[in-house]
Amino acid sequence: MSRSAHPAGPRHADVLPEGHYSAPPADLNVLDPKVWAQTVTRDGQGVATVGGIDVKTLAEQFGTPAYFLDEADFRARARAWRTAFGPDADVFYAGKAFLSRAVVRWLHEEGLNLDVCSGGELATALAAGMPAERIAFHGNNKSTEEITRAVESGVGRIVLDSFQEIVRVAHIASSLGRRQRVQIRVTVGVEAHTHEFIATAHEDQKFGIPLADGQAAEAVRRALQLDGLEVIGIHSHIGSQIFDMSGFEVAAHRVVGLLKDIRDEHGIELPEIDLGGGLGIAYTSDDDPREPHEIAKALNEIVSRECDAARLRTPRISVEPGRAIVGPTAFTLYEVGTIKPLDGLRTYVSVDGGMSDNIRTALYDAEYSVALVSRTSDAEPMLVRVVGKHCESGDIVVKDAFLPADLAPGDLIAVPATGAYCRSMASNYNHALRPPVVAVNEGEARVIVRRETEEDLLRLDVG
Ligand code: LLP
Repeated sequence: MSRSAHPAGPRHADVLPEGHYSAPPADLNVLDPKVWAQTVTRDGQGVATVGGIDVKTLAEQFGTPAYFLDEADFRARARAWRTAFGPDADVFYAGKAFLSRAVVRWLHEEGLNLDVCSGGELATALAAGMPAERIAFHGNNKSTEEITRAVESGVGRIVLDSFQEIVRVAHIASSLGRRQRVQIRVTVGVEAHTHEFIATAHEDQKFGIPLADGQAAEAVRRALQLDGLEVIGIHSHIGSQIFDMSGFEVAAHRVVGLLKDIRDEHGIELPEIDLGGGLGIAYTSDDDPREPHEIAKALNEIVSRECDAARLRTPRISVEPGRAIVGPTAFTLYEVGTIKPLDGLRTYVSVDGGMSDNIRTALYDAEYSVALVSRTSDAEPMLVRVVGKHCESGDIVVKDAFLPADLAPGDLIAVPATGAYCRSMASNYNHALRPPVVAVNEGEARVIVRRETEEDLLRLDVG
């Protein structure tokens, strides 16, 4: 029953067979720190709090549905990545996971760089004052306007994704009298998701230039001849929500193999490699992600070992985590609207949002957790499916979970680990108004992306 819906392949989410559910947790009131943002806890009355503010107060002030982002947790995770990789490496936060001007400022302050993949993300980064040299520009089909803007603004690197783009970027840079620093994105034949990776035949995708048949070597050859380009390294990104480091091991081996071929052919050692993002987070208590320092250690060891074996100087490493930084730092707060017990099956709990604020369950069969947060309860666990208010039966937020049997309309429930790819993939389906993102820190809450209004919808509809 697992659908092959993930853009990079079917292994994105492991789905339990129909009729098989994990046992309910021993205590439904416990908020597992593994899946909840760092400062989330319950106050003396049993109401969940984040950054020192309880969710009832937050719901009153900001409404529901809404994403609440724990700023201290975001900064701590950004800092942990920065510290783990140290001064001889670069951490580029992948803005596609979630981007706003406040987030860009936090990243800047914490010493991270930024990966953007569209003109809109670039505009947000620049508007928030991220120095252009700390921005990497990605994408498999960058427009001429996007490339021109990236070069003009002086981005630190453009990641070239195709043969056409090598020529396009070189031409634009030359005509602007610039020499643009670039990396070449290669597909190494490795695809990794969740607990598995596959190391053959995964070059059948739209990103990058295949290593196979000397194509990547040819791309490097062409790029090195063009005055508008300064080739600084090779880029590889193998997938998302990865727990198993062996995919990175194979990727690093193959990228270093290319660096060696480049040295042998051109007599130059490219100074950088980027191993992309993709490190997994805990969506449920069953997931066991690695800490940034373990990841840094593993990647550094892999690259040094491969370079020693190839007698190459170890290049400067960069990584591009998105989900692993922002994912765990936010939860979505919903109000329960209707509750529909279906005898012998499960109870459908409808909330005031749905696939418009979290498409990941519908799109990838992603798993999430959920908890009653406006109070505690000693009632028995009941098997629920949390669904939204959209006109579609696939509008599921949490497929299988347990909530207390005394759940009632008006209760607040929250879905943790929604910081990544929820607001950034939100839609106006059924003319839903996209929820706000509220940053909470040390007893203060402030809107960093406001809720859409009906005026916003009507302003786009020119009549
Ligand atoms: N670098 C590159 C070149 C990427 O393509 C991506 C993600 C990242 C970095 C960041 O990956 P992360 O560390 O966040 O896994 N919408 C999907 C995820 C798509 C990821 C696309 N590329 C989801 O909701 O799971």
